[in-house]
Amino acid sequence: MNIDGKTTVLGVMGDPIGHTGSPAIHNFIADRLGDNLVYVPFHVRRNGLAAAVEGAYELGIRGMNVTVPHKQDILQEVAELEDSALAIGAVNTIVRSKSGYKGFNTDFSGFMRQLDHYSIIVYNKPVIMLGAGGAARAVMYALQKIGASRIYVLNRSKAKAKEEFGKLPNVEILGFDEWDKIPGSEKYICIQCTSVGLAPLSNECVIKDDDFFDLVSVGVDLIYVPSETVFMKKIKERGNKAYNGLRMLIYQAISSYEIFMDKEVDNDIAEALYEKLDS
Ligand code: ATR
Repeated sequence: MNIDGKTTVLGVMGDPIGHTGSPAIHNFIADRLGDNLVYVPFHVRRNGLAAAVEGAYELGIRGMNVTVPHKQDILQEVAELEDSALAIGAVNTIVRSKSGYKGFNTDFSGFMRQLDHYSIIVYNKPVIMLGAGGAARAVMYALQKIGASRIYVLNRSKAKAKEEFGKLPNVEILGFDEWDKIPGSEKYICIQCTSVGLAPLSNECVIKDDDFFDLVSVGVDLIYVPSETVFMKKIKERGNKAYNGLRMLIYQAISSYEIFMDKEVDNDIAEALYEKLDS
């Protein structure tokens, strides 16, 4: 890295921020592409978000990723919103425009690219989603956009899931103990969007009844630490494929990078990142 008077500054804002893997990913891509930039972590507290965004703009920071707890609050601080970010109601990427920053949601595009990578065809297929939080929102937007036929959302709080997705015509909301209401005549793509199973509580799965997994033809867990969750194990034990969320993480970063730098990142960089980060 060679910092000079023309170095572009990018970063990630969050609280906490010490654990973030984004600087390693973005600086790796910049290094590979020979881009003159630096990507740094910014510890921004909730009540400092507006001042941080204003200050970043004045300092000429080209773009930033936005993580917990700011993904929703940042909507109030941007000058423009891309359609998917508006529809999802969450922003994880901001890039400077003439009048301020423009907000994007690359969790959504990262998820789409992950499905594509694994050749998981969602169009006209029935899907089961576990969870109804922030990550699930981006997943639901993707599933609707691709055209899943029917989506069963299982969540601990049915009321919250109904509030999030209850108005969508092809969605049915169930509790985790009601999974047997899902017709057994079909097999389902299952997307695990809860935080259950995330390290250090790695031996947990939000679905306790093993018979549930007979419904699943292929599974995607958004969790990537550990690299094989209990959810994934149960699917694989039945001879089916299951993937973790590492590629979604990589692709959301690549999508952000492409927006920041207005250029395409080749897939060999995605593969190199996967090799570097897969444990
Ligand atoms: P994220 O941004 O990662 O999606 P979130 O918005 O806090 O985080 O959502 C977490 C999801 O995991 C929710 O679906 C949550 O269920 P509730 O909506 O009922 O809160 C789910 N979740 C978290 N801890 C859980 C637990 N112990 N058992 C079941 N579900 C859990």
